[in-house]
Amino acid sequence: MSVADVTVRVPAKVNVQLAVGGRRADGYHALATVFFAVGLYDTVAARPADTLTLTVEGRDAAVVPTDDSNLAARAARALAAHHGIDAKVALHIAKDIPVAGGMAGGSADGAAALLACDALWGLGTPRETLFALAAELGSDVPFSLHGGVALGEGRGEQLTPIPTSGSFHWVFAVADGGLSTPAVYGECDRLRELAGGPGSADEGRIPAPAADRALLEALATGDAAALGAALSNDLQAAALSLRPALTDTLRAGSEAGAIGALVSGSGPTCAFLAKDAAEASAVAAALALSGTCRDVRQAEGPVPGATLL
Ligand code: C5P
Repeated sequence: MSVADVTVRVPAKVNVQLAVGGRRADGYHALATVFFAVGLYDTVAARPADTLTLTVEGRDAAVVPTDDSNLAARAARALAAHHGIDAKVALHIAKDIPVAGGMAGGSADGAAALLACDALWGLGTPRETLFALAAELGSDVPFSLHGGVALGEGRGEQLTPIPTSGSFHWVFAVADGGLSTPAVYGECDRLRELAGGPGSADEGRIPAPAADRALLEALATGDAAALGAALSNDLQAAALSLRPALTDTLRAGSEAGAIGALVSGSGPTCAFLAKDAAEASAVAAALALSGTCRDVRQAEGPVPGATLL
């Protein structure tokens, strides 16, 4: 790497609460979600180039787009356009966050590319401008910049930091293949309309979502058992409907001693909270033997958001 190279490390997330309100007129859903950054990371390296190029390495690199649909490329172009310059950068993503897994891997790369290009091009973009650009790129991108634990409202892009104590121990069961986020939201609407009739999934017909007080208290006091009991995800039924085998994954982790289990975001990754590091290792070992997932990862959190290395 030359001295001009810039590298940003960015974490994955799990939504410890994902309360989904009604479908808005713009097609997005009103959310009250508690984002939690965990220590599984992608890195995005940026170096000077004559034009925008993008390369990806990592186990699932083959299924990551390297064209302008990649959020890292879109982020570089958005930042350049904001400043009226050309997006001259060679971006390289080292991917360790599960792809299309409900852990905001694509959003993480978008956030990292914003930070990396800002540093490479010496722009000094104000942080609030970076957050505004991040929100235009996607609902989860601002949180990937923010890190830690935060309440996301609106479509998830309006963030309020949430105080926490200590560190929590997570195990993630990675499924074979991803799930499309729009498809999972669509299935959530379909299930709601099946139960309540046409239009019953729309905003105004579903109560406004709100943060769960017991969950916030558990985070503030560092009470893992209380956090495990308070985990909730309104997209879980939809993810299970599209991928029924995830029920077996959730059961395997719970039977192995996890104190909380849920689908991460829109899935299909399943997240398990453990009492401590030793219990996390035991849950991870049991999941690996269960035959209900492709891969098992352990991570602690909360951790900071996108960071220049
Ligand atoms: O914001 P982002 O591009 O990441 O969202 C991807 C898709 O997920 C949206 O097109 C929409 O279908 C769905 N979504 C939603 N409500 C949200 C966030 C995402 O319906 N609050």
